[in-house]
Amino acid sequence: MARIKIASAGELRPGQSKVVETDAGAVALFNVGGSFFATSNTCLHKGGPLGEGSLDNSVVTCPWHGWQYDITTGENLTNPSQPVRTHKVVVENGSVFLEI
Ligand code: FES
Repeated sequence: MARIKIASAGELRPGQSKVVETDAGAVALFNVGGSFFATSNTCLHKGGPLGEGSLDNSVVTCPWHGWQYDITTGENLTNPSQPVRTHKVVVENGSVFLEI
């Protein structure tokens, strides 16, 4: 399992998100109440950028057509048969790492 640094913990305030390009593809990083979560950045509807969506607690709304996902579990709230991929995130010494 590889660990890559994708952000500094201070970069995102609670309720914020960003898109990170990695060797494993684009990842959406979210801060939910001080905890970090990561999913694939690609919406399963038509590929919208989830890291640019709006975050309400743990639910992100895709900016393109409004599909919603719980980013703590990957659950697709609009189309439950299509969960989004989640990634393990570790915060250590002020840095946010993705384990892939
Ligand atoms: S691409 Fe995300 S809702 Fe359509």
